[in-house]
Amino acid sequence: MKKIAAITLFMISLFATAQQETIDQKVNSLLKKMTIEEKIGQLNQYTGDNSATGPITINPNKQSEIKAGLVGSMLNIIGTKYTKQYQELAMQSRLKIPLLFGQDVVHGYKTTFPIPLAEAASWDLEAIELAARVSAREASASGIHWTFAPMVDIGRDPRWGRVMEGAGEDTYLGSKIGYARVKGFQGNKLGDLNSVMACVKHFAAYGAAVGGRDYNSVDMSERMLWETYLPPFKAALDAGAATFMNSFNDINGIPATGNAHLQRDILKGKWNFQGFVVSDWGSIGEMVAHGYSKDLKAAALSAITAGSDMDMESNAYRYNLAELIKEGKVSVDLIDDAVKRILRKKFELGLFDDPYRYSDGKREEKELNNPENRKAALDVAKKSIVLLKNEKQTLPLSKNLKTIAFIGPMVKEYKANMGFWAVDLPDVNYDKWVVSQWDGLQNKVGKNAKLLYAKGCEVDGDNKNGFAEAVEKAKQADVVILSIGERHNMSGEAKSRSDIHLPGVQEDLVKAIMATGKPVVVLVNAGRPLVFNWTADNAPAILYTWWLGTEAGNAIADVLFGDYNPSGKLPMTFPREIGQIPIYYNHFSTGRPAANDEATGYVSSYIDLKNSPKFPFGYGLSYTKFNYSDLKLSSVKIKNNESIKVSFQLSNVGKIKGEEVVQLYLQDKFGSVVRPVSELKDFKKIKLNAGESKTIEFIIDKEKLSFYNNKLEWVAESGDFELMIGTSSADIKLKSSFELVD
Ligand code: NOJ
Repeated sequence: MKKIAAITLFMISLFATAQQETIDQKVNSLLKKMTIEEKIGQLNQYTGDNSATGPITINPNKQSEIKAGLVGSMLNIIGTKYTKQYQELAMQSRLKIPLLFGQDVVHGYKTTFPIPLAEAASWDLEAIELAARVSAREASASGIHWTFAPMVDIGRDPRWGRVMEGAGEDTYLGSKIGYARVKGFQGNKLGDLNSVMACVKHFAAYGAAVGGRDYNSVDMSERMLWETYLPPFKAALDAGAATFMNSFNDINGIPATGNAHLQRDILKGKWNFQGFVVSDWGSIGEMVAHGYSKDLKAAALSAITAGSDMDMESNAYRYNLAELIKEGKVSVDLIDDAVKRILRKKFELGLFDDPYRYSDGKREEKELNNPENRKAALDVAKKSIVLLKNEKQTLPLSKNLKTIAFIGPMVKEYKANMGFWAVDLPDVNYDKWVVSQWDGLQNKVGKNAKLLYAKGCEVDGDNKNGFAEAVEKAKQADVVILSIGERHNMSGEAKSRSDIHLPGVQEDLVKAIMATGKPVVVLVNAGRPLVFNWTADNAPAILYTWWLGTEAGNAIADVLFGDYNPSGKLPMTFPREIGQIPIYYNHFSTGRPAANDEATGYVSSYIDLKNSPKFPFGYGLSYTKFNYSDLKLSSVKIKNNESIKVSFQLSNVGKIKGEEVVQLYLQDKFGSVVRPVSELKDFKKIKLNAGESKTIEFIIDKEKLSFYNNKLEWVAESGDFELMIGTSSADIKLKSSFELVD
């Protein structure tokens, strides 16, 4: 049996190699026919200004450039109707090289999934992969070949608006999620009609912008880069990611777009990446503003030399590369390498066999209305909600309530639930397509309860005129659901905030409603961790609901009434105050740690605030209770090539079924460089019925013990390790230690 499997595998790999060879041969023979201008054209990407709203009569220059073979790819052309029109232009070019259509399909296409930070809170890799799969099915059916996702930037600063687009602060969780999302987007293989190319971004360290201000500089040690920021990129590459996008920031003084160390040495060198790198929007040109390149021509030279293959919207390659070649500053080989990388993908996608294969209107119609897609969206939306607080058994709500007041500025909004990066399709009526929070509640209670509504206030501003009505409605109700937070466009690209408290007078609204004495459940909608201390300390029940997408209202209602028992865990630390930022659980130990979180004397602390966060990484409650017991280690002393089997019992000791994310953390007690106080090394999401117990196992091997030592080598150093199993990074239920010996 094994032999047959091995032979089959061998045949498959032979076949794959043969196929690759033919693609390479095709690429080479096409390349021979291309003029320098046509080659440069392949490296040129434009946006399709008005694709979403009308036919392509606008911008005749772009059209004639496509017909002349001077454009390799377009972004922001959505829908088969328009992708077909554009492809027809490319088919009028001399060599008929098809266009690639790219799009930011970041958290769904027509079906919008929770924002990626919310999805990360599910810690459910299967659900996350499925969300990406569904997004790929819809986008590919709509003419798109390529999504600019996943964003795998580590985000340790909630002021940075783009934390909403990533998987949070942790390298291990972020790597697993990056891997799952690439698998989901790309499916079995590129060229399958329902797959899109992934684009891993932003290479690299974009999330470490100083002060959390978008596009700002990054100053980072090489070790921090390798240990914390690069692993999710590597994981996404290991999943087969077809493309990478570089980033706007400079890193240690060199803009990432012109950074040969990142793109040539690491990505295309050490990691042997065979796909292509696209610049971020205008990032080649922005090297002039950075003060790195004296003009667009110098920027083009830096970018192509450093390994940026495709120019998104800078027009830097289009107008400068030919001259740079003539002047002998750029070799034709360098251009050929970039062109080949792009053409190879076009062949792999099957575009040379049929340039219109993704532009089939019938398939589009069917896939964009596939009810399965909404089911996947509902499933992951429920799993993304985090229960932050639940006192006096406020939740789940009883189904016998007579009157419920649903209050808040966004309760009746539709599109807002979709989040910053949602695709805005011109022919979708989002008021019908998205389930608002109000509609979700209405769907749930039907005629069984009377629902009262008041807006209360706006998201921002200082107008309290709506408070009186909200208080009045609250007084009439058995329970109040109060939905507050950020507007969906307060987090996202260029949406950094210096103040991440609840905006406007919303916290005053919470106070006014709480003063009625009614039981209150607070929903916080946001694209980042917010600071809301009064609410956190005083409201009896709080659900963090992020931005949940198309099925937002239904997902929230399911959790409110216990039809789904919340299982989300925070993928980012929630600070007590802005002054603690950047704050993350896996920080180093100082020489003067503050014992018990208190500022007593000359210790590393603030004199006006605790060091600990408001809500820690990995935190999230359930309507049931889990018990951890019987920790066993197969050995407490291992050699370098050995591993330890860790097992323990997890029991659901509550009254209803639930899911628990069990988290394994390690601390390397001493190292040739200081090690973090704890590091997530594994996790599992476990379903248990009421009263059920399961034995959970983890394996600790050399990989989990390794880190970049003082010479930047990936090694496991001998010594003592602390093992912690917990329900969050700060709530460790089981502990043990072991030793790695030489
Ligand atoms: C700029 C963003 O940084 C990037 O993530 C996105 O893919 C491009 N714009 C294209 O929209």
